Amino acid sequence: MDILSLKGRFADLFGGGDDPRVFFSPGRVNLIGEHTDYNGGYVFPCALTFGTYGVARERSDGVIRLASVNFDTRVEVSADDLRYDKAHGWANNPKGVAVEFTKLPGHPKIPGFDLLIHGNIPSASGLSSSASVCVLVATILNAFTGAGLSGIETALLAQRVEHNYIGVNCGIMDQFAVAMGKAGHAILLKCDTLKYEYVPVDMPGYKIVIANTKKPRALTDSKYNERVYECQAALSYLKNRLPIQSLCDVNPRDFELYKHLIPSPAQRSRAEHVIYENERAFMSVDALREGRLDEFGKLMIASHNSLRDLYEVTGPELDALVEESLAAPGVIGARMTGAGMGGCSVAIVAEDAVNGFIRRVGEGYERRVGHPTEFYIADIADGAGEALPE
Ligand code: GLA
Repeated sequence: MDILSLKGRFADLFGGGDDPRVFFSPGRVNLIGEHTDYNGGYVFPCALTFGTYGVARERSDGVIRLASVNFDTRVEVSADDLRYDKAHGWANNPKGVAVEFTKLPGHPKIPGFDLLIHGNIPSASGLSSSASVCVLVATILNAFTGAGLSGIETALLAQRVEHNYIGVNCGIMDQFAVAMGKAGHAILLKCDTLKYEYVPVDMPGYKIVIANTKKPRALTDSKYNERVYECQAALSYLKNRLPIQSLCDVNPRDFELYKHLIPSPAQRSRAEHVIYENERAFMSVDALREGRLDEFGKLMIASHNSLRDLYEVTGPELDALVEESLAAPGVIGARMTGAGMGGCSVAIVAEDAVNGFIRRVGEGYERRVGHPTEFYIADIADGAGEALPE
């Protein structure tokens, strides 16, 4: 739906009057560095040109009205009563953002607002539709309240919504990529210090192709929180010997020396994945910078194998997508991206092989899992703001 129609729909729903403001917040794809963020490590995501549009107008009566082009649920609440309500579905995300705003220093008053959103991130694809909505609403409330949050503060606020309101103990990668993305660049982010660097995604002759397992999933009832807990447990054993704050403070050499301290084989495997994945993430950035794309691709494959064998978050659909991708001509690397257990894979594919890739992987996947996949060519966008993507 284009912006004009979206504004028209807004006027139908909420009435005419002052021209509403239009904001955009992207989705994200992570190129490498998976399940490292909540372990203080490196991630390497980029923001995408698909995301969530928000048409919004401030109100003065403390009433919040929320509507979405994608979902039927419409909600009208008072800024004084923002309790989580299961029946409110998607609208809990904007409500949670408003709650976190009221906790900021100075306790900004939520003015009330009308909001219509339209997302074009495929649902449940693991491309961060939830972070996209939360960062969108945080950006809007930042503009309406004059709270003056920086991009990083906006990302952190959106992450607190997941922790405190939605109940997912996620890391900071998604919100950071969505709030801080830069067109044409991926972000090398160290998740404990939030130090980051923009790295040009310069791959002449190659495209980033995302494929969707289309497997229904929800982070809240997935293994995600279980993995977070397993990593914390593994960390607590290593801390007995090593002066560390997080798993990614451990280098592979020390891990090999001290891994016997972690009694549970499953927790040991989770830690092994995290520590080696962290190495792969920064090695892959060097490879990309130096134009060694083959090396980048190999690191992606090693990442997937580790997520499959050690972290156990791939499942038959993602494995099928990646295996089919790697068997296709012109592919230099492929892996699952995001939390896993469904969601998407990402592959680096020679530009002139993309059509063949789509045909071949599409057929192979459907044959193996019994339902079709869907492909998206990634275009890397700027982070959230009032400017719209090109
Ligand atoms: C989800 C979470 C992120 C990150 C990834 C896995 O996308 O929201 O914080 O942990 O999974 O890398």
